[in-house]
Amino acid sequence: MPTASSFVTTTDGTEVQLFTLTNAHGVQVSITNYGGTITRLLVPDKAGQLGDVVLGFDNMRGYQSPEYRKAGPYFGALIGRYANRIAQGKFTLDGKAYTLAQNNGANTLHGGQQGFDKVLWQAQPGSSTEGQTLTLKYRSPDGEEGYPGNLDVTVVYTLTKDDALQIDYTATTDKATPVNLTNHAYFNLSNDPDILGHVVTMPADRYTVVDAGLIPTGELRPVKGTPFDFTAPHAIGERISQVPGGYDHNWVLNETQGLHAAAQVYEPTTGRTMEVRTTEPGIQFYTGNFLDGTLKGKEGKVYGQHAGFCLETQHFPDSPNQPAFPNTILQPGEIFKSTTIYQFGVRS
Ligand code: GLA
Repeated sequence: MPTASSFVTTTDGTEVQLFTLTNAHGVQVSITNYGGTITRLLVPDKAGQLGDVVLGFDNMRGYQSPEYRKAGPYFGALIGRYANRIAQGKFTLDGKAYTLAQNNGANTLHGGQQGFDKVLWQAQPGSSTEGQTLTLKYRSPDGEEGYPGNLDVTVVYTLTKDDALQIDYTATTDKATPVNLTNHAYFNLSNDPDILGHVVTMPADRYTVVDAGLIPTGELRPVKGTPFDFTAPHAIGERISQVPGGYDHNWVLNETQGLHAAAQVYEPTTGRTMEVRTTEPGIQFYTGNFLDGTLKGKEGKVYGQHAGFCLETQHFPDSPNQPAFPNTILQPGEIFKSTTIYQFGVRS
């Protein structure tokens, strides 16, 4: 069974817990019920040395500091109801107009002011035939952050025997509502302060073109001949200077059926690999562009620009306003299901 310990109290005095899942190889993941946040993930390098490969803090204070709130990087957190952006914080559903908080310029980002990353989830540690598990549940009440319907969400984290972190999301609603759930872990598989040397492959021939506010224009543009082409392996740093601000885009995955390949990452100095598979049609590849050294994390590490990268499996940004994008509206009576697997390994 996973172990549970106190993760210190939140600013309003509620006790937050930290659960640690372990497998026989010594791989460990620690997750708090605050935001369902992954705070620590230990995986071996090619010499068998365990190292922490995610950005985060040792205790709740880090996640609740004014600097963290201001920067809003969403380290390791569950994101909902709608991961990524909704233009102008507005959408129309069944003829009714809805208004959400504008928390990212004029747009809504990652659920609004108090998204799923800032709420307390009900937590149940356990185990399955695959490995140790942590089941998290949250009821998002009708009208929360402007979204319609009571949404019941369950997220199961499983640390598998073969060193994968699997995340299974399910949700049901009593009114039609947009749903797009993801996890916002920042990975750094190296011992370096930045992730520019990581080699990334993404089986995606197109990406969603965005405007200056990072809202999709609707165009799915071929990556061929551009710095967005990761269909063959490329180091993150190789062409990043050609992308103003760095990578912060949604790639359109070639495969969409069942669990399919989304990304492969290889870090040459440690030999660590990470393979991402998902049931989602898209993936936001974000290279920590907004990190600027103001946040100090675990082991006194200063998180500067590109200190970590995110591979956020998801439906496309602003889908509620883009009828041609895959549907993100969950109807009463339907069950939302989504699975993403981060598989760790080494290459010598
Ligand atoms: C997502 C967004 C980025 C940024 C981060 C959090 O990846 O696409 O623009 O907001 O979250 O800082």
